[in-house]
Amino acid sequence: MTPQRSRITLGAVLVAAIVLPSGQDMARAHSDAQGVVKERMEMMERLEELLERLFAVAHGELPYSAELVTVAAEEIRDHSGESLVALFPKGSDGEPSEASPDIWRHSPMFSRYSTMLEATADYLVELDAEPSGASQLPKKWEEVEVPRGMMPGGMMGGMRGLRRSAPDGMSEFDTALWQIAQTCNSCHQAFREED
Ligand code: HEC
Repeated sequence: MTPQRSRITLGAVLVAAIVLPSGQDMARAHSDAQGVVKERMEMMERLEELLERLFAVAHGELPYSAELVTVAAEEIRDHSGESLVALFPKGSDGEPSEASPDIWRHSPMFSRYSTMLEATADYLVELDAEPSGASQLPKKWEEVEVPRGMMPGGMMGGMRGLRRSAPDGMSEFDTALWQIAQTCNSCHQAFREED
């Protein structure tokens, strides 16, 4: 073998060593991402269904039953916290996902929103209150405003911070839904890139 050819061969081996494994990793990451992205989209849609149901109860469009409320709140709680975060493995952003890369740049904050959802849903599970009949909630959960600068990290005392942000005189039932919706919306504002 001439020195030149051996250099070419070595070069090819190096290129292969660099390119091939990373190519395979990318392919694997991509198929993983599709699975997990699909899974979390379905989970989020389920959260939406549950929250819409609760808002309908608050507005008297669905008859109130303590069981309906508890079951919906429990399901929201069980999808949040660590199980929500687990559906966002590093690098699972990009088409068709709306996940922002900030999820992994600011992962403690992302986790805190998820924990906050767990806490606000659990609050509703434990709450022994009925809808007031004249709800002060907007019709849609997406319309619950996120106070400017609201960050779970900056909200010392988490739940208390959320409660303070609810409008004065809001019923306990409405306040509980307000807190949940505000958590959804805060996380979306920070970490979801909607088109
Ligand atoms: C910890 C952050 C976080 C919380 C809390 C959260 N979401 Fe999401 N949500 C996201 C992210 C990120 C996406 C984008 C996911 C993707 O496209 O990969 C998303 C997407 C969605 C979608 C669109 C799903 C689709 O099919 O594209 C809906 C609907 C949704 N969320 C509803 C909710 C509701 C309702 C709540 C509260 C009960 C909630 N989310 C709480 C982060 C969050």
